[in-house]
Amino acid sequence: MSQDTRQDNNGIVVKVVGLKKTYFLDHVAVPAIKEVNLEIPKGSFVSITGASGSGKTTFMNILGCLDKPTEGEYFLQGTDVSSFTPDRLAEIRNERIGFIFQNFNLLARTSAMENIELPLVYSGTSRHERVKKALELLEMMGLKGFEKHFPQQLSGGQQQRVAIARALVNSPSIILADEPTGNLDTKTSYEIMHVLKKLNEEMGVTIILVTHEHDIAAYAQRIITFRDGLIVSDTVNHEK
Ligand SMILES: Nc1ncnc2c1ncn2[C@@H]1O[C@H](COP(=O)(O)OP(=O)(O)O)[C@@H](O)[C@H]1O
Ligand SMILES: [Mg+2]
Repeated sequence: MSQDTRQDNNGIVVKVVGLKKTYFLDHVAVPAIKEVNLEIPKGSFVSITGASGSGKTTFMNILGCLDKPTEGEYFLQGTDVSSFTPDRLAEIRNERIGFIFQNFNLLARTSAMENIELPLVYSGTSRHERVKKALELLEMMGLKGFEKHFPQQLSGGQQQRVAIARALVNSPSIILADEPTGNLDTKTSYEIMHVLKKLNEEMGVTIILVTHEHDIAAYAQRIITFRDGLIVSDTVNHEK
């Protein structure tokens, strides 16, 4: 990181103000996010839920610096990233955000260890340090002995654990997970949710998770529901 622009910002890691996102298809405006205002404190575990087409993925793409809002501001640890150039967004993304996807998104011809190391390669970490960190996380995910396995040689749950280790390796400010259990059976889904919950509770990792499944959303402390590009409810989860 060239310059440390992180601020304490009263413990708010994500702040979104008047956020709007409109797609244009053949000159027809598709308002995916109509207006969203939101603050997420550090150490939170938040679920974002809502029907298909309600704007969840669009919102996560903006939080993940994969896309920019049409209007409004997004402060990540106090830095307004909404006006950043694509290059600076990519930099911020690699430094501060860990991603977990429905399809795991691991590199196919790359071992579990090398997949986990990858974000550290981009950030220019020494090989010695990379191996040390990757091994530590691999073991933490219960995958000792699977260092050299390729994704295809691992079960869905194991692949998602590798992806979680990869998401953690840069010590990101936030972990974003879009339907992380979407390709897993029920038992494995709950196992993965336990892993995420433990990371949040024991290590204070901030997690923002998208799911359309109620029992998955229920692992979080806070549940935000989207409908037609708006937040229609934002509640503390008493079930937890
Ligand atoms: N790249 C895109 N171009 C045009 N419209 C899009 C694009 N991505 C999403 N949309 C539209 O934006 C709305 C919200 O989509 P999305 O964020 O994917 O919702 P969700 O993840 O909740 O299913 C939908 O109406 C969808 O069709
Ligand atoms: Mg989606």
